[in-house]
Amino acid sequence: MISYRAFTKCFGACRAVEALSLDVTRGEVVALLGPNGSGKTTTLKAAAGLIFPSAGAVWLGDPPRLAVEPEARRVLSYLPQKVSFPDALTGAEVVEFYRELRGAPVDRSQQVLRFASLNDAGERMVGTYSGGMVQRLGLAVAMLPEAPVFLLDEPTAALDPDGLCAFYGLIEHARADGRAVLFSSHQLGDAERLADRFAILVGGHLVACLSATELKDRLAERGVMRVRLVSRPEQLSAAVRALAPAATWAGEELVVPGPAAIRPRVLDTIRALGIEVRGLTAEEGRLDVLYRELVAEAEARSGVREVAS
Ligand SMILES: Nc1ncnc2c1ncn2[C@@H]1O[C@H](COP(=O)(O)OP(=O)(O)OP(=O)(O)O)[C@@H](O)[C@H]1O
Ligand SMILES: [Mg+2]
Repeated sequence: MISYRAFTKCFGACRAVEALSLDVTRGEVVALLGPNGSGKTTTLKAAAGLIFPSAGAVWLGDPPRLAVEPEARRVLSYLPQKVSFPDALTGAEVVEFYRELRGAPVDRSQQVLRFASLNDAGERMVGTYSGGMVQRLGLAVAMLPEAPVFLLDEPTAALDPDGLCAFYGLIEHARADGRAVLFSSHQLGDAERLADRFAILVGGHLVACLSATELKDRLAERGVMRVRLVSRPEQLSAAVRALAPAATWAGEELVVPGPAAIRPRVLDTIRALGIEVRGLTAEEGRLDVLYRELVAEAEARSGVREVAS
């Protein structure tokens, strides 16, 4: 549905995106993550046909069309990172304008205004809206055409919990209806909750593309259990390290990094040695920690490349 093939975009000397190859298929939701300036907006704009690739191509829809062809616009809904509408129009007028433009059915305007919880504010002028309300209006407009491809650039940045809930509902519907969704976000929690895959861009390079299962496995490796014990006999250290080689002591606390699956066996070993447990905490790996590791590794690699070149 969305296919990037060695897509590269340069702005003068700035290589915003470098040889990106990525597919988003029907019914799939992919989160585009990465630090500021890493190329997320450029990637989404290329699929929306708003910028021409410097090299490579972006294909949309089925049958596939080049994203830069006007016909390709018919299959997509695009929410830009910065949405703005004329201040002097009401929210309902904005939605109605875009409904006619996209040829959506007449009752669609009320549906999307309701979905974006803007029905009461629909008659007010956009100039009186808060930032989050303008963003909800942007989402309402993006939802109008029920297109097979959704491109959403930081859709959750200004949403309150109700807005987020509506957005989660929108994405679940899109997935169930077989649409292809590509969205960028700095809100890792939203990405973790919604996405089937996570594409991480650093300095315009795709440094990781993990499925939800791969992400779960990577996060599990970063879990940690801490067991506070009354004593720390030598034979315990050896027995635990046979199960979890990275286990260490922090004072009277035994720190056992690794997946949850090894924890019951570590506790069995402690019990078998008759050692009293005073306390226990367990923490799963977190996406923000993994994300920072991947970004730092990629930045270190590109630093090495720059020094070498
Ligand atoms: N029109 C443009 N002219 C020149 N440089 C640009 C242009 N658009 C983007 N860039 C540069 O391309 C790089 C990628 O920008 P982009 O907006 O895609 O990043 P981003 O990942 O969306 O960042 P953010 O998280 O801040 O939204 C940046 O270095 C940016 O300065
Ligand atoms: Mg951006």
